[in-house]
Amino acid sequence: MPAQPTVPRMSLPAPSDPGPLIALDAIPQGLIVGSAAFNEGASPWNSLEDIAHAVAGCTLCPLYKTAKNPVPGTGNSNADFVVVGEAPGASEDEQGVPFVGAAGQLLTKILGAINLSRDDVFICNVLKHRPPGNRNPEPNEVHACSPYLVRQIELLRPKVLLALGTFAAQTLLQTRESIGKLRGRIHRYNGVPLVVTYHPAALLRNPSWKRPTWEDVQLARRILDRANPGTE
Ligand code: URA
Repeated sequence: MPAQPTVPRMSLPAPSDPGPLIALDAIPQGLIVGSAAFNEGASPWNSLEDIAHAVAGCTLCPLYKTAKNPVPGTGNSNADFVVVGEAPGASEDEQGVPFVGAAGQLLTKILGAINLSRDDVFICNVLKHRPPGNRNPEPNEVHACSPYLVRQIELLRPKVLLALGTFAAQTLLQTRESIGKLRGRIHRYNGVPLVVTYHPAALLRNPSWKRPTWEDVQLARRILDRANPGTE
C-alpha cells in the first residue's frame, strides 16, 4: 500500500480566549477589484461543468503537458462560500480534486471549525493544472488560467470568498501587498466580500498562525451569516 501523506495532528479549535467580536461594519474595508456587474454575457461557459470540460482540454499554457489530471474545482454548485487556493499539488494532480493532501485535510478541519463541510462550499485554485515539482505559478500560467476562475466566481456569485495564501490573495486582488497587510480587512472582488487568510500548508509549517487564521475564517463565517440570516 502506498504511504499516506502524514497529516499533523493539528486542528483549529476556537482559542480559549477568543476576545471581543468587532462589529462587522467596523472591520476595515479593503481593496476593491472590478464591479458587481462582472462580465455578463461575454463567456462561452454557462456552467461549472462547461468550465471543467474546457479545463480538461486546455492547452493555453504548458502545464497540461506535465500534469496527470486537470483540477478544475469541486463542491457545491450553489455554494455561498468559495475557497480559492494556489495550485494543485501531487495528491490533487493524482485525484483531479483540489485540497486532498495534508494541507487539504487541514482545510477540511478549518471549514469544520466554522460549521461548514466540503459539500457546503466550492473549492478551487488559481491554477487548474499542477506546476511541476510544486514550483510557484508563472505569470503566463496565471494569465492563461484566470478566465476559468473569474467565470467560476461569476457563475457561483458567492456571498463570501476566502483566499488562501499570498498567491491567491494577490492574484484575486491584483496587488503585491503582503498577506499580513491584506488579512483583517473585507475586500471586494467584483462585488463579492473577500477575506484573506494563511494557506493551510503555511499553517502546517507555522502553527503560530493558527489564531489569526481562526479570526479570519470566523470573519468569513460572519459575513456569510449576515448574508443568510437564520441559517447559521
Ligand atoms: N495547495 C493549493 O493551493 N491547492 C491545492 O489544491 C492543494 C494544495
